[in-house]
Amino acid sequence: MSSMRTVKVGIIGCGGIANGKHMPALKKCDNVEMIAFCDIIEERAAKAAADYGTDGAKVFTDYRDLLAMKDIEVVHVLTPNYKHAEISIAALDAGKHVMCEKPMATTSVEARAMCEAAKRNGKKLTVGYQSRSEASYQYAHNYIAAGKLGEVYYFKAPAIRRRGVPTWGVFMDEEKQGGGPMIDIGTHSIDAALYVVNNYDVASVTGAVNNKLKYYAKDNGDWGAWGEDRPFTVEDSAMGMVRFKNGATMYVEASWLLNVQDGGHPTFCGTLGGIELMNGGVAINGERPDEKGEMKLFADLYKPTPADRTYFKDENLTSSEYEARQWIQAVVEDIDPITLPEQAAVVSEIIEAIYKSGRTGRTVYFD
Ligand SMILES: NC(=O)c1ccc[n+]([C@@H]2O[C@H](COP(=O)([O-])OP(=O)(O)OC[C@H]3O[C@@H](n4cnc5c(N)ncnc54)[C@H](O)[C@@H]3O)[C@@H](O)[C@H]2O)c1
Repeated sequence: MSSMRTVKVGIIGCGGIANGKHMPALKKCDNVEMIAFCDIIEERAAKAAADYGTDGAKVFTDYRDLLAMKDIEVVHVLTPNYKHAEISIAALDAGKHVMCEKPMATTSVEARAMCEAAKRNGKKLTVGYQSRSEASYQYAHNYIAAGKLGEVYYFKAPAIRRRGVPTWGVFMDEEKQGGGPMIDIGTHSIDAALYVVNNYDVASVTGAVNNKLKYYAKDNGDWGAWGEDRPFTVEDSAMGMVRFKNGATMYVEASWLLNVQDGGHPTFCGTLGGIELMNGGVAINGERPDEKGEMKLFADLYKPTPADRTYFKDENLTSSEYEARQWIQAVVEDIDPITLPEQAAVVSEIIEAIYKSGRTGRTVYFD
């Protein structure tokens, strides 16, 4: 890594995820310099520049001024969802490589336009689906790719919060986010599941969208309250059933509010065995011969280590650090980032179809 040339990065959107994930992770890459920061709230950009920037790092309130800086090679787009496509496309058209936060966009049309912009400019585009950078997910991905589960024909992608409405920022605003828990956290569980099974060929989607518990629930822990001054215009839970062209099905559940105790965990069921991602480990089940040669059920728990990941095997990086390092390496060495834009666009198509199906009561067919 130290032999790599320096990459100059610009940050657009200096809020929660910038401070919680991107800027600290980029700061730990010894070949990255964060030279410009933009936020419509100027103090946020100034604080980010002071905390993470190079000496003399620039501060902007209009992202176009940041994109005009020739030195910048990579831009991280960390704004609310409704700005992802506009800013990412402008950055790609300005000749930058782009890391955009999840979900890729609020609509599939925007997501596809982002893929197009990357292609026509010959620039890299990725989306911040950091579950792919966890050792357990990479282990499960490789385990399935090696054929050890046989045919994986059913899997579950839960993103369940019993209570957990993000009441800050614009998360409850349909206009600015494009949806609630399904597009906010269901997007992670869908992406991670598609990555684990390596299947992006969707045949159809059936969904349900609920606006229920927001009218009953009162206890949101210390995440704040919604009400007249803080309108909650997105759904409070949504579910979807996705059929793939190879006949497999995926069940997706996403909630910020749902009366459930155990939301479950990502589960992948094949003809030869199953994998469940739980407690930071990988639970594997199936049948294997005992000492008499008789087939018996087994259930093992394996704790993946950094050595189970594709890159940086001898380093104990968090998923955020791994994602940032691999992304910068992809730019420098011209290799693929962990998340390809066409894969992230499929996630956006599934989410949009869940919402559409929920509204119309009909199954949405792809192609
Ligand atoms: N990967 C993850 O697990 C994860 C977690 C949280 C949020 N996110 C994503 O990150 C994005 C931002 O979420 P957040 O929690 O940081 O929200 P936030 O509200 O804390 O931060 C967003 C920042 O963007 C700024 N902003 C808004 N419009 C802008 C514009 N036009 N130009 C420049 N800056 C602008 C806001 O002022 C704010 O400071 C969302 O898309 C969200 O889905 C991802």
